[in-house]
Amino acid sequence: MSQQLEQVKALISLREKARLGGGQKRIDAQHEKGKYTARERIAMLLDEGSFEEFDMFVTHRCTNFGMENNRVLGDGVVTGYGTVAGRLVYVFAQDFTVLGGSLSETFAQKICKVMDIAMKVGAPVIGINDSGGARIQEGVNALAGYTEIFQRNILASGVIPQISAIFGPCAGGAVYSPALTDFNIMAKGSYMFLTGPKVVKSVLGEDVTQETLGGASVHASKSGVAHFAVDNEEVGIQTIKELLSYLPQNNLEKTPIVPTNDPVNRMDDLLNEIIPDNPNKPYNMYQVINAIVDDGKFLEVHKDYAKSLIVGFARFDGITVGIVANQPAVLAGVLDSNSSRKGARFVRFCDAFNIPILTLEDVPGFLPGTQQEYNGIILHGAKLLYAFGEATVPKITVVLRKAYGGAYCVMSSKHLRGDINYAWPNAEIAVMGPSGAIEILYGKEMKEAQDVNAFKAEKEKEYRDAFANPYNAAKYGYIDDVIEPRNTRFRVIRALHQLENKKLTNPAKKHDNLPL
Ligand code: HXC
Repeated sequence: MSQQLEQVKALISLREKARLGGGQKRIDAQHEKGKYTARERIAMLLDEGSFEEFDMFVTHRCTNFGMENNRVLGDGVVTGYGTVAGRLVYVFAQDFTVLGGSLSETFAQKICKVMDIAMKVGAPVIGINDSGGARIQEGVNALAGYTEIFQRNILASGVIPQISAIFGPCAGGAVYSPALTDFNIMAKGSYMFLTGPKVVKSVLGEDVTQETLGGASVHASKSGVAHFAVDNEEVGIQTIKELLSYLPQNNLEKTPIVPTNDPVNRMDDLLNEIIPDNPNKPYNMYQVINAIVDDGKFLEVHKDYAKSLIVGFARFDGITVGIVANQPAVLAGVLDSNSSRKGARFVRFCDAFNIPILTLEDVPGFLPGTQQEYNGIILHGAKLLYAFGEATVPKITVVLRKAYGGAYCVMSSKHLRGDINYAWPNAEIAVMGPSGAIEILYGKEMKEAQDVNAFKAEKEKEYRDAFANPYNAAKYGYIDDVIEPRNTRFRVIRALHQLENKKLTNPAKKHDNLPL
């Protein structure tokens, strides 16, 4: 055998060794926990045969605690690039089989390398997290490594899409990299927390499990840290692929067009009768969304969090659109602190990545009360207001029913540079709802009225006729047109095409001062 051939063989066997990560026993242990390995996850994510790995031969440099005898090729993270549905993406997947996926200086450098290249070429980064956190033996070098990643997450924010999957432990300061990315997808059984159950017990005396402290369902429904909670890793990977299909490669590109056979002018008669006669009765906003989007397909973000507002991606005539919709079936569609934050984050993502925003409005106002005020609803509501107001992407609004008070202003109104603002004929646009307004306007007369109910009914009717309709707003041009509900899909698509080449810029500044 020639010397060169021997070297080729040595390379092949070195590669095989690197692919085994922490070894077969630990791979088996990972499988026994119902988890996939880093390489299996990357294989599921990327188009077959598209993965090109970087830094397979990197090893750590630590010599503390006998670490010089514990070096594994690749050092606990698999990095590189490939394609998803033919589009370039960069990936890193932490390998729990190597020292529990703990992060060393070199491990961090591998991640930084893919992030740097992704920024140079303008392609999304997908990080799969499954790690015991900072590698304890490395001390400050591990902390430095994390912080180098955070810095890149920050600079990449709004430039390239960043998606995090949490498929195992993600604890301590390690949580901040996913928190800085655009979307977190958590699989059942994974967890994220700053301090684990043992510390919680010793500091606060609270008994909690990993699951109740930071499991997928907790972060999807209570904290909002997770945008998607999925039953298993396969669904998690599928969710990443679906999400990517809606997104551009970077902030300078447009979103991909996905051709559809769904007719542009498809009408849905259901929409002409969906609003109940009683204005206090709910209906389900999902029915409206499903009726108007291409093929009834909607990828909801934050499905289980702050459910009075729905946000997510859909397509109209193949064009990606971010939908922000009040949900009358939950708390009458009211805006509270959490739904305002949820909406603001989504609107800002859409704006950063050239995704037009469709606002479907049916909102009685902001939620009153001490709980909300103490919680800072003024600031949180201002975030949503700010997000809509600063957004320069095409903004289309449809007022389906209620648009009252501050919520009218906030929900992508004409005055926040809404491009096309439609209303259904049954829309109610006013400072407040009829019964509240009557209490204030006629409080004294009501006390003196012989038949209070009849007096109230008469005044409410007067108020409704004057204000609780779309024509008062349309009279001033705040509503561009009152449309037939069943024709909403067609009108939205026409508006989108009209706005395709919209150009609008905000004043130059170092950065804004969003009310955080
Ligand atoms: C070095 C680690 C490690 C770590 C795990 N391992 N975490 N090695 N540094 N942080 C090693 C273990 O020693 C073990 O090695 C192997 O990985 C597998 O770990 P096990 O404990 O056997 O696995 P399991 O029972 O599944 O428990 C997983 C775990 C636990 C819950 C993640 O390992 C754990 O609690 N680790 C420490 C978590 C933590 O507190 N990290 C620091 C967070 S603070 P052997 O060779 O025995 O198999 C942080 C600061 C970041 O990260 C700050 C950024 C600014």
